[in-house]
Amino acid sequence: MRRYNRPIMELLQPDAPGIDRAARALAGGLLVAIPTETVYGLGANAFDAVAVARVFEVKRRPGFDPLIVHIADISGLALVASFPNALAERLAEAFWPGPLTLILPRTPRVPALVTSGLDTVAVRMPAHPVARAIIRAAGVPVAAPSANPFGYLSPTRAEHVVRMLGDAIDFVVDGGATDIGVESTVLDVTGERPLILRPGGLPRAAIEAVVGPVDLVDRVSETPTSPGQLASHYAPRASLHLVAEGALPDASIGEGEGLVFFSEASRAAYRARRGSCGPRVTERILSPGGDLREAAAALFVVLHELDEAGVAGIWAERVPAEGLGLAVNDRLWKASTKQ
Ligand code: TXA
Ligand code: MG
Repeated sequence: MRRYNRPIMELLQPDAPGIDRAARALAGGLLVAIPTETVYGLGANAFDAVAVARVFEVKRRPGFDPLIVHIADISGLALVASFPNALAERLAEAFWPGPLTLILPRTPRVPALVTSGLDTVAVRMPAHPVARAIIRAAGVPVAAPSANPFGYLSPTRAEHVVRMLGDAIDFVVDGGATDIGVESTVLDVTGERPLILRPGGLPRAAIEAVVGPVDLVDRVSETPTSPGQLASHYAPRASLHLVAEGALPDASIGEGEGLVFFSEASRAAYRARRGSCGPRVTERILSPGGDLREAAAALFVVLHELDEAGVAGIWAERVPAEGLGLAVNDRLWKASTKQ
């Protein structure tokens, strides 16, 4: 009989015994949250449809939203995706391991549940050494969505996972704070021209430098082809108001609300205009020096903190729309849109 309803989630260290334990648990059908360089993933053996079903259940994720399958080495790709695909090979060569997810035709071995019945599969080789060691030792591809309840903020620290899903999963491997802080870039390479379905940790310009022009899905499209495009995703509990860079309003910020600035310079400009907001307004800066990588890494941490602090509402400004700024603005926009 297998595995359900383990009474208590166990926290594992990212050392050899922890990696071994996590790998055995995954191979045996249990759910293990693992650190990656982007965000924490909720891992299950991708070939075990029952374990995958439990991922959907604990995340309360709708069945139409397919999962990303993670592999440790390039040899794992042929198990889940059909080849040849010259574009995918060039991209994998250039960017794996790393924050790039490729959409490819799937092999029949991948359970339909993983791909929500689509004939394509999302595949990624994460760069985090602990993630790769666990997947390699498990000996199976690992289906892993971000380890958060559906629609809520993604976790960038083990404690975020413990707080959000700790009572429903088996293990969390604590790999500390994630490096990139926003999810991978999802790129569809099944067509003639690559199409970014979700901007993420790998900037568009980096991809274009290798394969030429790529298209970007219109984010406000009414018929999303990647459910990551759904509005009201990555959202905090408090309602988030998103404004243009430098356009945080002077008047409407009330007591008990949170303010998210891109940089120290933008906060200084705001303060010069408005004066102090008073002690009951919680201020956060994504990157004091205005660095987009740092802002991406801080984004979910800051939003989790404001939610934990119980702020009544959040006001955030957009960041410059270049490099990782595209992914940051995408997440802020989705967090701000209520359906
Ligand atoms: O960085 C990441 O990508 C993290 C870490 C854990 O690897 N994972 C992650 O997974 O963000 P998730 O499930 O939260 O997001 C997966 C995205 C969703 O937007 C989903 O709709 C899309 O990938 N996706 C998965 N399979 C797809 C497919 N066959 N076609 C189109 N989109 C797909
Ligand atoms: Mg997610």
